Amino acid sequence: MNALTARCPAKINLGLKVLGRRSDGFHDLVTVFQAIDLWDTLRLETSERLELTCDDPSIPTGDDNLVLRAARLLRRGGAARFRLHKSIPSGGGLGGGSSNAAAAILLLERAWSLRISELAREAAAARLGSDVVFFLHGGTALGTGRGERIQPLGALEERPLVLGVPPFGLSTAEVFGRLHAPLTPPDAGVTVRRLFGKFAEGNDFGLATNDLESVAFVLRPELVPFRDGLVRSGAQPALLSGSGSSVFGLFRARDAADEAASRLSREFPSWRIVRTRTIAEGVRVEGPEAA
Ligand code: C5P
Repeated sequence: MNALTARCPAKINLGLKVLGRRSDGFHDLVTVFQAIDLWDTLRLETSERLELTCDDPSIPTGDDNLVLRAARLLRRGGAARFRLHKSIPSGGGLGGGSSNAAAAILLLERAWSLRISELAREAAAARLGSDVVFFLHGGTALGTGRGERIQPLGALEERPLVLGVPPFGLSTAEVFGRLHAPLTPPDAGVTVRRLFGKFAEGNDFGLATNDLESVAFVLRPELVPFRDGLVRSGAQPALLSGSGSSVFGLFRARDAADEAASRLSREFPSWRIVRTRTIAEGVRVEGPEAA
């Protein structure tokens, strides 16, 4: 029996602007997705039925899990056994579940020898969640629409970063739901896209902002001192990732990032501090290997 493994990276958002609420309940936004060196692993083995196990008991493994939804979307009644090893915290705005879903699509395409066009693959990914399409590409990419329209921005120079994961998560639906006045006028969409494109050209997101901070920082004011600690350590920018709850700081020099990580670990003992870096990849399928 052969097994396939996919490595599923996390993401951060190097800026996020909300343009307005749509009639389908989602929000139109402009964001820059950035893959980071923090990975889950999704392993696929042959099986008589469709099943999922996970080494993190806090992750629901029932029918609603995006991995199983991806499988049912590709082939109703298809069988496979998934084993998910989690390192990416959930509820952190890091796209872990979305990355797992993109990995499930790529694994099943191979395992079930499906012939799917890139367009159909992206449509399936978009049905599963707003962030899933990004993980098929990885690296750095502009996201528009509800986040599912992806335009790769080319490889940026690698940057060190410090990620702070607080001991609580935030619900994406709740954060968007509490956003009453879009902070960026809808007709500014083109300007924001251009601005984010310029940030990417110079690999300098120092002036980028995240509109969802206005909600997350009110729901959880304890996020603010961590962001301020990153700023004091020289991070540029220091931002909420997506709808939170994670806060990251981007650095130029590795030793500045190292110092910030050890200082913040001491100052915020209940937070998980991850010293990582930006990467130019997305989901990576490896194998087959003997199971
Ligand atoms: O697409 P996804 O399932 O990740 O979205 C989770 C929830 O976040 C949606 O049900 C919606 O309430 C909110 N959302 C939004 N606008 C977006 C993305 C997500 O309002 N662009």
